[in-house]
Amino acid sequence: MRILLTGGTGYIGSHTAVEMIRAGYEVELLDNLANSKITVLDQVEKITGVRPKFYEVDLCDRAKTLAVFRAGKFDAVMHFAGLKAVAESVEQPLRYYENNIGSTLSLLEAMKETGVGRIIFSSSATVYGDQDPGETGFSETAQTGAGITNPYGWTKMMIEQILRDYAKAEKGTSVTLLRYFNPVGADTSGLIGEDPNGIPNNLMPVVMKVYRGEIPELTIFGDDYETRDGSCERDFIHVTDLANGHIKALENQRPGVAVYNLGTGKPTSVFEIVGAFEKVAGKKLSSKIGERRAGDLARLFANPSLAEKELGWKAERDVETAVRDTLRYLRNLK
Ligand code: NAD
Ligand code: UFG
Repeated sequence: MRILLTGGTGYIGSHTAVEMIRAGYEVELLDNLANSKITVLDQVEKITGVRPKFYEVDLCDRAKTLAVFRAGKFDAVMHFAGLKAVAESVEQPLRYYENNIGSTLSLLEAMKETGVGRIIFSSSATVYGDQDPGETGFSETAQTGAGITNPYGWTKMMIEQILRDYAKAEKGTSVTLLRYFNPVGADTSGLIGEDPNGIPNNLMPVVMKVYRGEIPELTIFGDDYETRDGSCERDFIHVTDLANGHIKALENQRPGVAVYNLGTGKPTSVFEIVGAFEKVAGKKLSSKIGERRAGDLARLFANPSLAEKELGWKAERDVETAVRDTLRYLRNLK
């Protein structure tokens, strides 16, 4: 099978490309390199021995996207491409709506035109809004949409709806919505990892920069939450587990719409992640407690049992493994 990965040189796309090549799939990658580097292709080739075909294309460019589909003859698409910085989306809503939604419409048009009927979409736990996950974590049947606080989150919610409407109209289409929790870690080779352009917002990339001395200290956003240790709790999932979830989703895809949480089901606090990093790195990270960050939830974690039942998938790697793999990647970076 030949699969197109949009956003394929990005963090999750590149790890999925590696796992798919390892599993024997033919993958082609498309990206406009807005938040990733072309050198990722060299690394994928070093890891797998295969250099995937690459299209440097902005998906919002409908003519170029259609040309890729006419040339590619894809069996399915994994749609990772999108802008993902929550705070930036609040400052630049039009750019986020235009890019994330415009690219998806353009992609669907090209799929329709060339008869590609299968898509797996990178959604996010952000669609669950500001509810409390309780003691069991969010199930896929939990309410979505209420209390989404930023345009990035709304693009995920809206794209889920666009894909549902598309599947209803185009009979025989298969849509899988994968709601990721908090991806961390890196491939065991240490050759690819999370390397965002610009100033990072997410916890692990900030921790990585503090470790490397590029940011003087980590600010922990709040230690007065109603949680086990006062810091926020998240469901940190190893990116390789996440990548393998995509393969399982592809193998089990059927016409219609399916939705799965990809998480571990186990909440880990910010203090615990920082502690795990310090333990594995053997070095204290300089940090301070700051104000709560606007829009943060105290707790966010998955109930991943549906993916286990229907896809035969569950996360296998723990947070310490993710930290160890991240450090291996960091030590390889110049
Ligand atoms: P990433 O930024 O590393 O990868 C996304 C890639 O998409 C980048 O390489 C970027 O250059 C590309 N891209 C953006 N707009 C494009 C366009 N118009 N045309 C072509 N390429 C374009 O991010 P990631 O962490 O790998 O995330 C992948 C997907 O998963 C995104 O849709 C993201 O919203 C979603 N997601 C990520 C997280 C997370 O915490 N990392 C959580 C939930 C969902
Ligand atoms: N945090 C800090 N200091 C930092 C950065 C983060 O203390 O410098 C804390 C945050 O307050 C939060 C936790 O670390 O409690 C995780 O924050 P991230 O920014 O790494 O991740 P979020 O849970 O806020 O966001 C993630 C994804 C989004 C997605 C959201 C909800 O990055 O794409 O989950 O699913 F929308």
